[in-house]
Amino acid sequence: MPSMEQNGPRNTTQTRKQKPVLKLSNQPRCAADAISRREIVKKQRESLPIASVKERLVQEVKNHDVLIIVGETGSGKTTQLPQFLFNAGFCSNGKVIGITQPRRVAAITVAKRVAEECGVELGLKVGYSIRFDDKTSSSTRIKYMTDGLLLREALLDPYLSRYSVIIVDEAHERTVHTDVLLGLLKNVQRARLKSVIDHAVVSNKKASNGITKENEKGAECTNFLKQCQRKFPPLKLIIMSASLDARLFSEYFGGARAVHVEGRQHHVDIFYTLHAETDYVDAALITIFQIHLEEGPGDILVFLTGQEEIEGVERLVQEQLQKLPEESRKLVTAPIFSSLPSEQQMRVFMPAPAGHRKVILATNIAETSVTIPGIKYVIDPGFIKARSYDPVKGMESLIIIPTSKAQALQRSGRAGREGPGKCFRLYPESEFEKLEDSTKPEIKRCNLSNVILQLKALGVDDIIGFDFLEKPSRAAIQKSLEELFLLGALTDDCKLSDPVGHQMARLPLDPIYSKALILASQFNCLEEMLIAVSMLSVESIFYNPREKSEEAKTAKKCFASPDGDHLTLINVYRAADELLQKRRMELGIEKNEKNIKGKNEKILRKWCRENFINSRSLRHACDIHSQIRGHVEQMGLPISSCGDDTLQFRRCLAASFFLNAALKQPEGTYRALASGQVVQIHPTSVLHQSKVECVIFDELVQTSQKYIRNTTRIDYLWLTELAPHYYAMQG
Ligand code: CDP
Ligand code: MG
Repeated sequence: MPSMEQNGPRNTTQTRKQKPVLKLSNQPRCAADAISRREIVKKQRESLPIASVKERLVQEVKNHDVLIIVGETGSGKTTQLPQFLFNAGFCSNGKVIGITQPRRVAAITVAKRVAEECGVELGLKVGYSIRFDDKTSSSTRIKYMTDGLLLREALLDPYLSRYSVIIVDEAHERTVHTDVLLGLLKNVQRARLKSVIDHAVVSNKKASNGITKENEKGAECTNFLKQCQRKFPPLKLIIMSASLDARLFSEYFGGARAVHVEGRQHHVDIFYTLHAETDYVDAALITIFQIHLEEGPGDILVFLTGQEEIEGVERLVQEQLQKLPEESRKLVTAPIFSSLPSEQQMRVFMPAPAGHRKVILATNIAETSVTIPGIKYVIDPGFIKARSYDPVKGMESLIIIPTSKAQALQRSGRAGREGPGKCFRLYPESEFEKLEDSTKPEIKRCNLSNVILQLKALGVDDIIGFDFLEKPSRAAIQKSLEELFLLGALTDDCKLSDPVGHQMARLPLDPIYSKALILASQFNCLEEMLIAVSMLSVESIFYNPREKSEEAKTAKKCFASPDGDHLTLINVYRAADELLQKRRMELGIEKNEKNIKGKNEKILRKWCRENFINSRSLRHACDIHSQIRGHVEQMGLPISSCGDDTLQFRRCLAASFFLNAALKQPEGTYRALASGQVVQIHPTSVLHQSKVECVIFDELVQTSQKYIRNTTRIDYLWLTELAPHYYAMQG
């Protein structure tokens, strides 16, 4: 283990500026380039471990309606199997092969890669579909999507009749959507089979002029069944997982067949720190530079917990680089996290410029979901950001927790894909032994109201009796049902209410956000709520670099509303929008739309930089805004603005977020009213250190303290006025 406190770049003092830039485009520059790239891609594909078992796999899929495929990360499961099945005729009759991913970025990057491998334009034969972004067309046959999106599709098409094959990828991740999807797919398979039998019975009757059901077992009927099955092929279900234990999935599907695809793993040296690190971000930074300055060529992959942390480390790396001698600055950064705008995602897959080293700053998305070539060094601080739910208090929070052993092993494995590698775990070896074997499935540690709402909309009324892969606790189900009832989505007898419950199920948002939008149309502030919900749907609009903290604070003050963060976020959105409107008027004469868009992008980025606004997040929020606006318009909700009467908006927040209200305590902390927990207003909130009596908040985050984030001032009395069914009950 290199000693982590020595040779830190902070000791060096040179300050000449020159940023190495990672080329954004992977477009070949000439025909020869394109041919050689095609050749490379072809060779890469042929050398993947899965290539040698292609025929066997296709046969297994033909023979079994449910198949579990376990294979090491990088063996080619996600990119190759759908192509094998396509070529084997699984898309005849215009059917589609659907592949679900737990994460948006994985769906996008893999679809792009597969489109390239097939030599087709993205969105034609190969496409992807994720919430707020659809790149598919009627000719799409291989469709990558998030697991959540397929659940939504089932609302419109309960038989998922467009699909001949559904591949549930990354099943080991056990996201709540994956778990629910598996239950749903089990039902769909059964329902499809039933429709085949029903059809056979009807046809049989017709053909033999009313032969009764007793004859169904005869040979004639079997023939009919076969014919019908050809007409209505069963849904093939493939579950892919990187974890070696396929037992749980197999048992769930009645002893379904499981096959293993061998991977190729080189030796990885594991290093631990001698002592526990107090600041793992700092330790990661030091390790990046130690590797960069002392180790041989090869890219570095660093696992961090989220966008904010990744962008912080990215800035620190850039800063430290400026302090190094010119010849040591050949290091480029490439971030990857779930909400990264799609045009920036492919950067992680691009080779660094000649002579440079690339450092990839990733969330746990790079554990198994995406395989990035060229990695020789892995830095694993040993943490993830995870959801945690307390069903007694009804509180969901985001917490940073240690990874499991399985995750640590997956992470270190990323260093040994192409040759021997090194993994630096930023904790002592004794800590590794204390880690849980595997991560608890999300369904056992999250608020279930979203899932329950969707299941109800799918006609599953008995949630407790639903055939879950692993059942969430009865307490969690009951608490979430209660929450939905309090939000007005469910009737007394636990059915979806009309119209609110049905409207809420249609919106692809957390139930509380959906409720806020529906109510906002009555409070005449839907314009404002659309912006607020979009801005809340992205991580960290503001950023605050350590070295320019004061400047950032001053910039934020220009947008700050004394009433809280929701209005502050709206101010940011509107300021950006005004800037672009103005530009549009100035450039109105210019004909070339693309040109205008490019210039606007540049201007917006500059404006964001000057105002310490995260331009990636802002753009993402704009996309979300236009999508939700579309949904809301379709639903026929009247969209109007409350103008300067922001009281209406705050009252609307109180009416919808009443379960997230907190009251100031004499000693200065706050008490969350629903759960009784003692919390503090997050330091990034404009209401931090204010003397506001009562607030509503968007989320509870737990680090060393319990913080409430994105808060807005409300009047305590509004709660009893606007949510009497809850606050009168509370007494
Ligand atoms: O799903 P699995 O982990 O088994 O592998 P995969 O995602 O199908 O990746 C197979 C190969 O494709 C890897 O070796 C990656 O290097 C490559 N790949 C890529 O170059 N670019 C992508 N966007 C995705 C995969
Ligand atoms: Mg994969």
